[in-house]
Amino acid sequence: MASPIPLRIDIAPPRDRRARALTDLRISVIDRCNFRCPYCMPEDAYPRDHEFLGKAQRLRFEEIERIVRVFAGLGVSRLRLTGGEPLLRRELPQLVARLAAIDGIDELAMTTNGSLLPALAPGLREAGLGRITLSLDALDADIYRRLSGGRGDVAEALAAIDAACAAGFGPLKINCVVMRGINDEEVDKLAAHFRGSGHVLRFIEYMDVGTCNGWNDDLVVPSAQLRARIARRWPLVPLPRGRGSEVAERWRYADGGGEIGFISSVSAPFCGDCTRARLSADGRLYTCLFARQGHDLRGPLRAGASDAELAAIIAGAWSARDDRYSEMRNRVSAMPRERIEMYEIGG
Ligand code: GTP
Ligand code: 5AD
Ligand code: SF4
Ligand code: SF4
Repeated sequence: MASPIPLRIDIAPPRDRRARALTDLRISVIDRCNFRCPYCMPEDAYPRDHEFLGKAQRLRFEEIERIVRVFAGLGVSRLRLTGGEPLLRRELPQLVARLAAIDGIDELAMTTNGSLLPALAPGLREAGLGRITLSLDALDADIYRRLSGGRGDVAEALAAIDAACAAGFGPLKINCVVMRGINDEEVDKLAAHFRGSGHVLRFIEYMDVGTCNGWNDDLVVPSAQLRARIARRWPLVPLPRGRGSEVAERWRYADGGGEIGFISSVSAPFCGDCTRARLSADGRLYTCLFARQGHDLRGPLRAGASDAELAAIIAGAWSARDDRYSEMRNRVSAMPRERIEMYEIGG
């Protein structure tokens, strides 16, 4: 499937205005989701007749592959497939196979809610998907259901973890977004459940992404609080940062129970070494999760732009980048409210 013709781009890997390289690309393959998590796509804000992207608006697999080749030529080596829910995109293993074959791509991962994973895990593995991160916000069936907007079933999420392991994906990363008063009581239960399993549970501070989740500061449980609570029961030892741009602070249980992580975008922003770009399902490049606007790549691509022309657009956007929203959030009193929605760029 790999193109036999090597890509020729005479553009050096770009650095942004804060000297940050471009090494990671998060690719949203579809803006739809079968869940309605209140922190991302609250049911009342996205009624059943909400208009998502149509097929013709979404990038085709060969278009995504072409764009990724150009990104790889500019220094991207890690890819993550996201959505909405990426497994709603038909024939996803075909895309995985195309992307896994691209020169320079060392890591290919996916973040999913897991509901459709059992049937698809073996095919994704065969196609070359490397790692899976699964979202799981509670073990209690009612709380889990509530946090999926009444759509998900915790037994299915747990079965998806087993299915992923059976297909060769284990151990996984498990993401839990914590909302005060909603699922913070689940934290100890989740920690107890995953300790010793090999899976890396990560608690994520609820972020003010998008415009419609009704975010407010009171709903955020700072990671330091969660960590102290867990450490009272099971002492924790800090681990060195994985790679420079890893978003999670890593800890391990002192008694050998394995690793646990905290993603603290609100209380301890990590913009300083943010090397992540995001591609929406309709082919727009976003240089920040909180960006107001993207850079259209689909238009030029469909109008016949060459690889070098696409590379110049991407490198230009990256070189002009000065984003550090999470760092600015606490300093600026009135941030603009117009922003990309989480489900459009997959976190
Ligand atoms: P790994 O490389 O496996 O650690 O993946 P990841 O943690 O980057 O990906 P995942 O999709 O699991 O994201 C975890 C959480 O971190 C989600 O809530 C994301 O929205 C958030 N996140 C990821 N990248 C960024 C970022 O650049 N900025 C901010 N503010 N949050 C991010
Ligand atoms: N704050 C923090 N994390 C979020 N996610 C979705 N919305 C938010 C939010 N408002 C998480 C999902 C998934 C990951 C891609 O992003 O739960 O694990
Ligand atoms: Fe869907 Fe993930 Fe958003 Fe939940 S967080 S609504 S599973 S895209
Ligand atoms: Fe990167 Fe923007 Fe997130 Fe900061 S807020 S870490 S710049 S995506």
